[in-house]
Amino acid sequence: METLYLSATDPKTAEIAAKIIKSGELVAIPTETVYGLGANGLDEEAVLKIFQAKGRPQDNPLILHLWGAEQMDEYCQNIPESARILAQKFWPGPLTMVLPAKEIVPKRTTGGLATVAVRCPDSHITREIIRLAGVPLAAPSANISGKPSTTTAEHVRHDHDGRIAAIVDGGACRVGVESTIIDLTGPQPRLLRPGGVTPEQLVAVLGDILIDKDAVVKAPGMKYKHYAPDCQVVIVDGDLPAARNYIEKTWQPGNRVLCFDEELEAFAPFAPLAYGREQDADSLMAGLFAALRELDDPAIGTVFARCPRGSGKALAVQNRLGKAAGFHIIDAEQEQ
Ligand code: TXA
Ligand code: MG
Repeated sequence: METLYLSATDPKTAEIAAKIIKSGELVAIPTETVYGLGANGLDEEAVLKIFQAKGRPQDNPLILHLWGAEQMDEYCQNIPESARILAQKFWPGPLTMVLPAKEIVPKRTTGGLATVAVRCPDSHITREIIRLAGVPLAAPSANISGKPSTTTAEHVRHDHDGRIAAIVDGGACRVGVESTIIDLTGPQPRLLRPGGVTPEQLVAVLGDILIDKDAVVKAPGMKYKHYAPDCQVVIVDGDLPAARNYIEKTWQPGNRVLCFDEELEAFAPFAPLAYGREQDADSLMAGLFAALRELDDPAIGTVFARCPRGSGKALAVQNRLGKAAGFHIIDAEQEQ
Protein backbone atom coordinates (compact mmCIF):
# COMPACT_ATOMS: atom_id res chain seq x y z
CA MET A 1 0.00 0.00 0.00
CA GLU A 2 1.09 3.57 -0.52
CA THR A 3 1.74 5.34 2.77
CA LEU A 4 0.17 8.78 3.05
CA TYR A 5 2.38 11.45 4.64
CA LEU A 6 0.50 14.04 6.68
CA SER A 7 1.91 17.10 8.41
CA ALA A 8 0.77 17.92 11.94
CA THR A 9 0.58 21.59 10.94
CA ASP A 10 -1.83 20.99 8.03
CA PRO A 11 -5.35 21.86 9.26
CA LYS A 12 -6.87 18.91 7.35
CA THR A 13 -4.58 16.28 8.91
CA ALA A 14 -6.62 15.43 12.02
CA GLU A 15 -9.75 14.82 9.99
CA ILE A 16 -8.00 12.69 7.36
CA ALA A 17 -6.16 10.63 9.98
CA ALA A 18 -9.33 10.13 12.04
CA LYS A 19 -11.13 8.85 8.94
CA ILE A 20 -8.37 6.32 8.26
CA ILE A 21 -8.52 5.15 11.89
CA LYS A 22 -12.30 4.71 11.65
CA SER A 23 -11.84 2.66 8.46
CA GLY A 24 -9.75 0.13 10.43
CA GLU A 25 -6.30 1.03 9.06
CA LEU A 26 -3.07 2.03 10.84
CA VAL A 27 -1.83 5.58 11.33
CA ALA A 28 1.54 6.39 12.93
CA ILE A 29 1.06 9.24 15.38
CA PRO A 30 3.45 11.65 17.09
CA THR A 31 3.39 11.89 20.88
CA GLU A 32 5.66 13.69 23.33
CA THR A 33 7.37 10.35 24.19
CA VAL A 34 7.84 8.36 20.97
CA TYR A 35 5.84 7.82 17.76
CA GLY A 36 3.04 5.29 18.13
CA LEU A 37 1.48 2.91 15.63
CA GLY A 38 -2.19 3.70 16.13
CA ALA A 39 -5.40 1.82 15.37
CA ASN A 40 -8.97 1.83 16.66
CA GLY A 41 -8.43 0.15 20.04
CA LEU A 42 -12.00 -1.22 20.08
CA ASP A 43 -11.67 -2.94 16.67
CA GLU A 44 -10.02 -6.36 16.99
CA GLU A 45 -9.17 -6.58 13.30
CA ALA A 46 -7.54 -3.17 13.24
CA VAL A 47 -5.58 -4.03 16.39
CA LEU A 48 -4.41 -7.30 14.81
CA LYS A 49 -2.81 -5.21 12.04
CA ILE A 50 -0.64 -3.48 14.67
CA PHE A 51 0.75 -6.80 15.89
CA GLN A 52 1.38 -7.89 12.29
CA ALA A 53 3.10 -4.64 11.25
CA LYS A 54 5.37 -4.63 14.31
CA GLY A 55 5.99 -8.37 14.39
CA ARG A 56 4.87 -8.23 18.02
CA PRO A 57 3.79 -11.27 20.09
CA GLN A 58 0.02 -11.09 20.60
CA ASP A 59 0.18 -11.59 24.36
CA ASN A 60 1.98 -8.25 24.76
CA PRO A 61 -0.80 -5.76 25.59
CA LEU A 62 -1.23 -2.32 24.05
CA ILE A 63 -1.77 1.09 25.63
CA LEU A 64 -5.10 2.81 24.92
CA HIS A 65 -4.58 6.50 24.15
CA LEU A 66 -7.36 8.81 25.29
CA TRP A 67 -8.09 12.41 24.39
CA GLY A 68 -8.96 13.34 27.96
CA ALA A 69 -9.16 11.98 31.50
CA GLU A 70 -13.00 11.89 31.18
CA GLN A 71 -12.61 8.95 28.80
CA MET A 72 -11.06 6.80 31.52
CA ASP A 73 -14.50 5.80 32.82
CA GLU A 74 -15.54 4.47 29.40
CA TYR A 75 -12.80 1.82 29.34
CA CYS A 76 -11.78 1.29 32.98
CA GLN A 77 -13.68 0.27 36.12
CA ASN A 78 -13.10 0.39 39.88
CA ILE A 79 -10.87 3.38 39.28
CA PRO A 80 -9.04 4.30 42.50
CA GLU A 81 -8.96 7.92 43.62
CA SER A 82 -5.18 7.87 43.14
CA ALA A 83 -5.65 7.37 39.37
CA ARG A 84 -7.79 10.49 39.18
CA ILE A 85 -5.20 12.49 41.08
CA LEU A 86 -2.39 11.23 38.85
CA ALA A 87 -4.42 12.03 35.71
CA GLN A 88 -5.08 15.52 36.96
CA LYS A 89 -1.43 16.08 37.81
CA PHE A 90 0.34 14.41 34.87
CA TRP A 91 -2.10 14.28 31.92
CA PRO A 92 -1.71 15.11 29.16
CA GLY A 93 1.79 13.72 29.61
CA PRO A 94 4.16 10.76 29.73
CA LEU A 95 2.33 8.64 32.32
CA THR A 96 0.46 5.38 31.63
CA MET A 97 -1.79 3.81 34.26
CA VAL A 98 -2.81 0.15 34.35
CA LEU A 99 -6.40 -0.17 35.61
CA PRO A 100 -9.15 -2.83 35.63
CA ALA A 101 -10.64 -2.97 32.11
CA LYS A 102 -14.30 -2.74 31.16
CA GLU A 103 -15.78 -5.46 28.91
CA ILE A 104 -15.87 -3.07 25.94
CA VAL A 105 -12.06 -3.28 25.62
CA PRO A 106 -11.25 -6.26 23.37
CA LYS A 107 -8.97 -8.99 24.72
CA ARG A 108 -6.84 -8.50 21.58
CA THR A 109 -5.96 -5.01 22.87
CA THR A 110 -5.21 -6.12 26.45
CA GLY A 111 -3.28 -9.23 25.40
CA GLY A 112 -5.94 -11.32 27.14
CA LEU A 113 -5.62 -9.46 30.47
CA ALA A 114 -8.47 -8.18 32.63
CA THR A 115 -6.59 -4.88 32.96
CA VAL A 116 -5.92 -2.10 30.46
CA ALA A 117 -3.16 0.50 30.21
CA VAL A 118 -4.39 4.03 29.48
CA ARG A 119 -2.69 7.33 28.81
CA CYS A 120 -3.47 10.79 27.49
CA PRO A 121 -0.60 11.95 25.26
CA ASP A 122 0.66 15.52 25.24
CA SER A 123 0.31 16.04 21.49
CA HIS A 124 -2.40 18.35 20.30
CA ILE A 125 -2.71 16.75 16.85
CA THR A 126 -2.90 13.22 18.27
CA ARG A 127 -5.55 14.11 20.84
CA GLU A 128 -7.50 15.81 18.06
CA ILE A 129 -7.27 12.67 15.90
CA ILE A 130 -8.57 10.57 18.83
CA ARG A 131 -11.39 13.01 19.51
CA LEU A 132 -12.51 13.12 15.88
CA ALA A 133 -12.23 9.34 15.46
CA GLY A 134 -14.43 8.96 18.56
CA VAL A 135 -12.51 5.86 19.65
CA PRO A 136 -9.45 5.30 21.84
CA LEU A 137 -6.25 4.65 19.92
CA ALA A 138 -4.36 1.47 20.70
CA ALA A 139 -0.75 2.39 19.98
CA PRO A 140 2.53 0.71 20.79
CA SER A 141 5.81 2.42 20.01
CA ALA A 142 5.98 2.41 16.21
CA ASN A 143 9.33 0.57 15.88
CA ILE A 144 9.54 -2.96 14.53
CA SER A 145 9.46 -5.23 17.60
CA GLY A 146 12.80 -5.41 19.45
CA LYS A 147 14.31 -2.41 17.64
CA PRO A 148 15.00 1.05 19.09
CA SER A 149 11.84 3.15 19.36
CA THR A 150 10.89 5.76 16.77
CA THR A 151 11.29 9.41 17.79
CA THR A 152 10.92 11.03 14.35
CA ALA A 153 8.57 10.50 11.39
CA GLU A 154 11.67 9.53 9.40
CA HIS A 155 12.29 6.62 11.82
CA VAL A 156 8.71 5.47 11.22
CA ARG A 157 9.12 5.79 7.45
CA HIS A 158 12.25 3.63 7.70
CA ASP A 159 10.37 0.85 9.52
CA HIS A 160 6.93 1.00 7.87
CA ASP A 161 6.94 2.84 4.52
CA GLY A 162 4.48 1.10 2.18
CA ARG A 163 3.12 -1.08 4.99
CA ILE A 164 0.78 1.27 6.87
CA ALA A 165 -1.90 3.70 5.67
CA ALA A 166 -0.46 6.98 6.98
CA ILE A 167 2.24 8.71 9.02
CA VAL A 168 1.54 12.01 10.79
CA ASP A 169 4.74 14.03 11.04
CA GLY A 170 4.81 16.08 14.24
CA GLY A 171 8.56 16.60 14.38
CA ALA A 172 10.98 15.08 16.87
CA CYS A 173 9.48 13.78 20.13
CA ARG A 174 10.18 16.07 23.08
CA VAL A 175 10.66 13.45 25.83
CA GLY A 176 12.18 10.74 23.64
CA VAL A 177 11.56 7.60 25.72
CA GLU A 178 8.26 5.84 26.29
CA SER A 179 5.89 6.79 29.09
CA THR A 180 6.29 5.80 32.72
CA ILE A 181 3.93 2.90 33.50
CA ILE A 182 2.34 2.53 36.93
CA ASP A 183 0.12 -0.46 37.73
CA LEU A 184 -2.71 0.57 40.06
CA THR A 185 -4.55 -2.78 40.09
CA GLY A 186 -2.69 -4.41 43.00
CA PRO A 187 -2.68 -3.72 46.75
CA GLN A 188 0.24 -1.33 46.23
CA PRO A 189 1.09 0.80 43.15
CA ARG A 190 3.85 -0.83 41.11
CA LEU A 191 6.19 0.93 38.69
CA LEU A 192 6.47 -1.27 35.59
CA ARG A 193 8.53 1.06 33.38
CA PRO A 194 10.46 4.24 34.24
CA GLY A 195 10.03 7.26 31.97
CA GLY A 196 9.58 11.03 31.95
CA VAL A 197 7.45 11.01 35.12
CA THR A 198 9.91 9.95 37.83
CA PRO A 199 9.46 7.50 40.73
CA GLU A 200 10.01 10.45 43.06
CA GLN A 201 7.09 12.35 41.47
CA LEU A 202 4.87 9.27 41.84
CA VAL A 203 5.88 8.70 45.46
CA ALA A 204 4.94 12.30 46.21
CA VAL A 205 1.36 11.48 45.16
CA LEU A 206 1.02 7.78 46.02
CA GLY A 207 3.28 7.30 49.02
CA ASP A 208 5.28 4.09 48.80
CA ILE A 209 5.43 2.35 45.42
CA LEU A 210 6.87 -1.01 44.45
CA ILE A 211 9.46 -0.94 41.69
CA ASP A 212 9.32 -3.85 39.27
CA LYS A 213 12.71 -5.57 39.01
CA ASP A 214 12.42 -5.26 35.23
CA ALA A 215 12.22 -1.46 35.61
CA VAL A 216 15.77 -1.10 36.90
CA VAL A 217 19.00 -1.97 35.25
CA LYS A 218 20.65 -3.40 38.33
CA ALA A 219 19.85 -7.00 37.40
CA PRO A 220 22.66 -8.05 35.08
CA GLY A 221 21.27 -11.58 34.89
CA MET A 222 18.33 -10.56 32.73
CA LYS A 223 18.70 -12.12 29.36
CA TYR A 224 16.34 -10.65 26.85
CA LYS A 225 17.23 -7.79 24.52
CA HIS A 226 14.98 -4.95 23.46
CA TYR A 227 15.55 -1.57 21.82
CA ALA A 228 18.67 -3.15 20.42
CA PRO A 229 20.65 -2.06 17.38
CA ASP A 230 21.95 -4.85 15.15
CA CYS A 231 25.30 -5.08 16.97
CA GLN A 232 26.53 -5.76 20.51
CA VAL A 233 26.01 -2.95 23.05
CA VAL A 234 28.23 -2.99 26.16
CA ILE A 235 27.72 -0.45 28.95
CA VAL A 236 31.07 0.78 30.29
CA ASP A 237 30.45 2.06 33.82
CA GLY A 238 32.97 4.03 35.87
CA ASP A 239 34.78 7.36 35.74
CA LEU A 240 35.99 8.75 32.42
CA PRO A 241 39.71 7.82 32.74
CA ALA A 242 38.84 4.22 33.67
CA ALA A 243 36.26 3.95 30.89
CA ARG A 244 38.67 5.36 28.33
CA ASN A 245 41.34 2.92 29.47
CA TYR A 246 39.02 -0.05 29.15
CA ILE A 247 37.79 1.01 25.71
CA GLU A 248 41.31 1.67 24.46
CA LYS A 249 42.30 -1.89 25.43
CA THR A 250 39.20 -3.52 23.95
CA TRP A 251 38.28 -1.39 20.92
CA GLN A 252 38.48 -2.94 17.43
CA PRO A 253 38.35 -1.01 14.14
CA GLY A 254 34.71 -0.42 13.19
CA ASN A 255 33.53 -0.32 16.84
CA ARG A 256 31.79 2.83 18.10
CA VAL A 257 31.46 4.68 21.40
CA LEU A 258 28.12 6.11 22.55
CA CYS A 259 28.97 8.81 25.07
CA PHE A 260 27.99 12.06 26.76
CA ASP A 261 28.56 15.36 24.90
CA GLU A 262 31.33 16.31 27.35
CA GLU A 263 33.24 13.10 26.57
CA LEU A 264 33.45 13.49 22.78
CA GLU A 265 37.00 14.80 22.92
CA ALA A 266 38.29 12.07 25.25
CA PHE A 267 36.83 9.37 23.00
CA ALA A 268 37.83 11.04 19.71
CA PRO A 269 40.01 8.10 18.55
CA PHE A 270 37.12 5.62 19.02
CA ALA A 271 34.45 6.92 16.63
CA PRO A 272 32.26 8.49 19.32
CA LEU A 273 28.61 9.48 18.97
CA ALA A 274 27.19 11.73 21.70
CA TYR A 275 23.55 11.53 22.82
CA GLY A 276 23.27 14.29 25.46
CA ARG A 277 24.82 15.83 28.56
CA GLU A 278 25.66 13.57 31.50
CA GLN A 279 23.92 15.69 34.14
CA ASP A 280 20.92 16.46 31.93
CA ALA A 281 18.75 13.32 31.74
CA ASP A 282 16.20 15.19 29.58
CA SER A 283 18.81 15.59 26.86
CA LEU A 284 19.89 11.93 27.17
CA MET A 285 16.30 10.66 26.94
CA ALA A 286 15.65 12.87 23.90
CA GLY A 287 18.80 11.71 22.10
CA LEU A 288 19.01 8.02 23.00
CA PHE A 289 16.82 6.28 20.42
CA ALA A 290 18.00 8.34 17.45
CA ALA A 291 21.58 7.43 18.45
CA LEU A 292 20.77 3.72 18.85
CA ARG A 293 19.17 3.78 15.41
CA GLU A 294 22.25 5.40 13.92
CA LEU A 295 24.31 2.57 15.42
CA ASP A 296 21.99 -0.10 13.99
CA ASP A 297 24.62 -1.66 11.72
CA PRO A 298 26.10 -5.15 12.10
CA ALA A 299 29.42 -3.92 10.62
CA ILE A 300 30.01 -1.96 13.86
CA GLY A 301 30.35 -5.14 15.90
CA THR A 302 30.46 -3.53 19.35
CA VAL A 303 29.15 -0.24 20.74
CA PHE A 304 30.70 0.83 24.06
CA ALA A 305 28.06 2.92 25.79
CA ARG A 306 28.20 5.41 28.65
CA CYS A 307 25.15 5.42 30.92
CA PRO A 308 24.18 8.08 33.49
CA ARG A 309 24.05 7.17 37.18
CA GLY A 310 21.51 8.23 39.77
CA SER A 311 17.72 8.14 39.96
CA GLY A 312 14.94 10.37 38.64
CA LYS A 313 14.86 10.56 34.86
CA ALA A 314 18.30 8.88 34.64
CA LEU A 315 16.48 5.66 35.61
CA ALA A 316 14.62 5.70 32.29
CA VAL A 317 17.91 5.99 30.37
CA GLN A 318 19.46 3.17 32.46
CA ASN A 319 16.43 0.98 31.74
CA ARG A 320 16.41 1.48 27.93
CA LEU A 321 20.18 1.35 27.49
CA GLY A 322 20.38 -1.65 29.84
CA LYS A 323 17.87 -3.53 27.73
CA ALA A 324 19.64 -2.53 24.50
CA ALA A 325 22.81 -4.01 26.01
CA GLY A 326 21.06 -7.17 27.21
CA PHE A 327 22.30 -5.94 30.64
CA HIS A 328 25.93 -6.44 29.66
CA ILE A 329 27.67 -3.98 32.00
CA ILE A 330 31.43 -3.64 32.52
CA ASP A 331 32.74 -1.97 35.68
CA ALA A 332 35.74 -0.18 34.15
CA GLU A 333 37.16 0.83 37.55
CA GLN A 334 37.27 -2.86 38.60
CA GLU A 335 38.90 -3.84 35.31
CA GLN A 336 41.94 -1.60 35.85
O1 TXA B 1 5.05 6.42 25.52
C1 TXA B 1 4.45 5.37 25.30
O2 TXA B 1 3.92 4.71 26.19
C2 TXA B 1 4.37 4.91 23.85
C3 TXA B 1 3.58 5.97 23.06
C4 TXA B 1 3.29 5.55 21.65
O3 TXA B 1 2.42 6.28 23.76
N1 TXA B 1 3.78 3.62 23.74
C5 TXA B 1 4.44 2.49 24.12
O4 TXA B 1 3.76 1.31 23.88
O5 TXA B 1 5.55 2.50 24.61
P1 TXA B 1 4.48 -0.11 23.87
O6 TXA B 1 3.43 -1.05 23.43
O7 TXA B 1 5.71 -0.06 23.10
O8 TXA B 1 4.77 -0.38 25.39
C6 TXA B 1 3.69 -0.60 26.26
C7 TXA B 1 4.11 -1.42 27.42
C8 TXA B 1 4.43 -2.86 27.05
O9 TXA B 1 5.60 -3.26 27.73
C9 TXA B 1 3.23 -3.63 27.56
O10 TXA B 1 3.57 -4.94 27.95
C10 TXA B 1 2.79 -2.79 28.75
O11 TXA B 1 3.00 -1.47 28.32
N2 TXA B 1 1.36 -2.95 29.03
C11 TXA B 1 0.32 -2.61 28.24
N3 TXA B 1 -0.85 -2.95 28.82
C12 TXA B 1 -0.55 -3.49 30.01
C13 TXA B 1 -1.32 -4.05 31.08
N4 TXA B 1 -2.65 -4.13 31.00
N5 TXA B 1 -0.66 -4.53 32.15
C14 TXA B 1 0.70 -4.46 32.22
N6 TXA B 1 1.48 -3.96 31.24
C15 TXA B 1 0.87 -3.49 30.15
MG1 MG C 1 7.71 -0.47 22.58
